[in-house]
Amino acid sequence: MPGPTPIDKLDEDAARRELADLSQNIHRANEAYHGQDAPEITDADYDALKRRLAGIEARFPGLKRPDSPSDQVGAAPSEGFAKVRHEVRMLSLSNAFDAQDVRDFDDTVRRYLGLGADAPLAYTAEPKIDGLSLSLRYEGGRLVQAATRGDGETGENVTRNALTVDDIPQTLTGAPDVLEVRGEVYMSHADFAALNERQAAAGGKTFANPRNAAAGSLRQLDPEITRSRPLRFFAYAWGALSDALAETQMDAIKRLGDLGFQINPLTTLCDGPDEMLAQYARIETGRAGLGYDIDGVVYKVNDLALQRRLGFRSTTPRWATAHKFAAELAWTRLERIEIQVGRTGALSPVARLTPVNVGGVMVSNATLHNEDYIAGRDARGQPIREGRDIREGDLVQVYRAGDVIPKIADVDLSQRPGGAQPFAFPQTCPECGSEAIREEGDAVRRCTGGLICPAQAVEKLKHFVSRAAFDIEGLGAKQVEQFYQDGWIKEPADIFTLKDRYGSGMQQLKNREGWGEKSAENLFAAIEEKRRIPLNRLIFALGIRHVGEVAGQVLARHFGSWDALTAAVDAAAAEPILNALEDRKAALAASPHYAEILGIDGVGETLARSLIATMDQEAERASIDRLAAHLTVEDVAAPQDSASPVVGKTVVFTGTLEKMTRAEAKARAEALGAKVSGSVSAKTDLLVAGPGAGSKAKKAAELGVETIDEDAWLALIADA
Ligand code: IVH
Repeated sequence: MPGPTPIDKLDEDAARRELADLSQNIHRANEAYHGQDAPEITDADYDALKRRLAGIEARFPGLKRPDSPSDQVGAAPSEGFAKVRHEVRMLSLSNAFDAQDVRDFDDTVRRYLGLGADAPLAYTAEPKIDGLSLSLRYEGGRLVQAATRGDGETGENVTRNALTVDDIPQTLTGAPDVLEVRGEVYMSHADFAALNERQAAAGGKTFANPRNAAAGSLRQLDPEITRSRPLRFFAYAWGALSDALAETQMDAIKRLGDLGFQINPLTTLCDGPDEMLAQYARIETGRAGLGYDIDGVVYKVNDLALQRRLGFRSTTPRWATAHKFAAELAWTRLERIEIQVGRTGALSPVARLTPVNVGGVMVSNATLHNEDYIAGRDARGQPIREGRDIREGDLVQVYRAGDVIPKIADVDLSQRPGGAQPFAFPQTCPECGSEAIREEGDAVRRCTGGLICPAQAVEKLKHFVSRAAFDIEGLGAKQVEQFYQDGWIKEPADIFTLKDRYGSGMQQLKNREGWGEKSAENLFAAIEEKRRIPLNRLIFALGIRHVGEVAGQVLARHFGSWDALTAAVDAAAAEPILNALEDRKAALAASPHYAEILGIDGVGETLARSLIATMDQEAERASIDRLAAHLTVEDVAAPQDSASPVVGKTVVFTGTLEKMTRAEAKARAEALGAKVSGSVSAKTDLLVAGPGAGSKAKKAAELGVETIDEDAWLALIADA
C-alpha cells in the first residue's frame, strides 16, 4: 500500500476528502475509547491521525471543517471522570459464611457493647444486591452530585449519568437539607439479557453478567449512553446528613422509601441470630425468582445509637455484616499445575483448568494454595479431602464464592487418568533458579533470590503501583511488566527517573508501541503528581511481607514521618535480636526500640521482625533509599479533627470501665486521634483508671502521669 501523500503535495480536493475521513475516524476513535470503554486503535495511531489532521489544516486553513476534532484538544474527555472525595467514607462489609459466623457476629457486637446474652438486640436483614454502590448527594432537596465508591475515600463523579436513572429522584420534598443517600445500582436479569441481545445485534460488546453491565453502563462518559441502559437503584444506607433520618435502621430506610427511593421489599426486622438465619433461608429460597442478582444477606444493628457506639474498623462497620450465599460448584479437568512466584517470593501453585461455567462465570484458573494442599494434608499434617492428592489430568471440583479467586475443593479419583503422577513441587524457583525453601511452621515455599528474582521484582513493582499504594494513573500491572522486560524500570525508584531517561533523546516513550505523545505526557504528569506521597501509602507500597495497608496506617500514625520511622527501625536493627527462646522480659529490656515498635497497637512480633529485617537487608534498603530520595513524604498530621482534645496523646485504660467496654473505649479514643497503649511509661499522657486499678495507677503516680476516672474521660471527649 502506498504511504499517505506528503502534505505539501496534496491538492485542495484531496485535502478536503482526507479531512472528512480523518475527522470521521477521530470521532469514531473518541467514541470507542471514551464511550464504549473499548479502544479500537492504539494511542500512537490516534496521535498520528491527529497530527495529520493538524498538518493539513495548517496548510489549508480555509478547509477546516466546523466539526473538526482539532477543536476538541484538551476538551477531549480523556481524563475520564472528575474525582470526588466522599465526605463520609464508603465502606465495605465484613463477611459471614455460615450460621456460626452469624452467631459470632452477634456475640462480638454484644461483647463490644457490654450487653449480656439475654439483652434484647434487634437487627435488620435485607438482600445484598450484586451491583455497584453509588452515593447521591442532595442539597436543599436537589440532587447535586452522584459518586461511585472508588477506593472508599475518593470516587468518580457520575452525576450526569445518575440523572438519567429513573429510580433516582432528582428532587426530594421534606428531606434534610444535606442528605447523602447510598445504595446499589443494578440491572435486572431481563434487562441484562435484552441489552446483550441489542449489543450483539449491533456488533457491540456484550457483558459477562448483570453487574458488569450495570458498572459499564453507569461509567459512560456520554450520559446519553447511560440513559439508553436500563439501570435501577435500591437505597439502603446514607452518608453525610444535616439531620438524623430516624432512630433506627428500619425507620431510616422507610423514610428513604417515603422520600421516593426504591427500598428492598425483603428488608425485615429480626430479634436475634435465629430469626436472622430464618430470614436468610427465606431470601435464599426466593433468590432465583427475584429477577436480579443478590449474593447474600446483610444484617445491620437496628438501633442507630448503638451503630454509632459500635463505629468502624479500618474498612468495615462493626454494626453490620454480609452473610454470603454458599459458593457455586462445578467439575472440570485440571490440565496443568503452574507455579507463580509472588512479591515476597512465595511459590503459589495455580490450577489451569478446562474452562467451566461456575454460577454464571467462566473459570479457567483456580488457586491450589500450597504444596500441602495439593498433597492432601493441612499445615499440621492432618489429611484434607481424606488425604486425596491432586494431580495433573484429574477431574476436580471448582468452587467460587463472590469475588474471591476460585478454589479447587475436591478430586474424583474414579476419573483419574492412568499414569497420573503425584505433583512434584519444585524445590527451586522456576523464575530465577534460586533455591526455594520452606521455613519451619510456614506452609509456603519461598524463592531465596530476593531482588535478583525477576518474578519478585515485577510483582513488587505491580504492588508498588497498585491502587492502595502509589496508584499512578496510566501505569498498571501490564505497563510495569513491559517496562521491566525492556529494562526501563527495574525497581520503584526507576519510575521517577523515567521522564529524564525516556522523555526526550534517542529512545522516547511516545514512540513505543502502544504509546503516543498524549499518553506519554499523561504518564509523566501522573508520575510527577505522586512524588508527594502520604507516609502510610509509602510504607504499604514497599511491599514488605506482613506489612499491609492497615499496618501502613498504624505505623504512619505512630511515627508521623519517614525519618522517625527509619530511625526507629534502624535503632531496633542494631539491638540484640529478640529470641523467642530467651527470657522475653530481659530481651525486650535490652531492645528498647524493638520494644517500642512492638508496643504499637496493631503491631505484632511477625510484623515487627519482618519490617526490621527487610529494612536492614542491604540490597533492599539501598533500593528503598534510592526511592525515598525522589519523594516528598507527607507526614501524618494528627488524624481527623484536630478539635479533639486527645489528638496525638498516648492514653492507657486500666481497671473496670462501667459505661463502655474496653474495646469500645479504645476504638473511640483512636477515632479521636489518641494512641492507646497497654502499659504506662514516661510517654503516657493520660491514664484512665476505673475501680480496681492497680500497678498501672501506681506507676502513673510515680511518673507524674495525669490520671482521671471514666466519667472525667467521657466528659473530656463529650464534644469531640
Ligand atoms: S450496607 C457501611 N447494604 O455490598 C455499610 N451494602 O460488601 C454500607 N451492598 O459496598 C453497605 N447490598 O456495594 C449494604 N443491602 C445492602 C447492600 C450492600 C449490596 C454492597 C455495597 C457495599 C458492599 C459491601
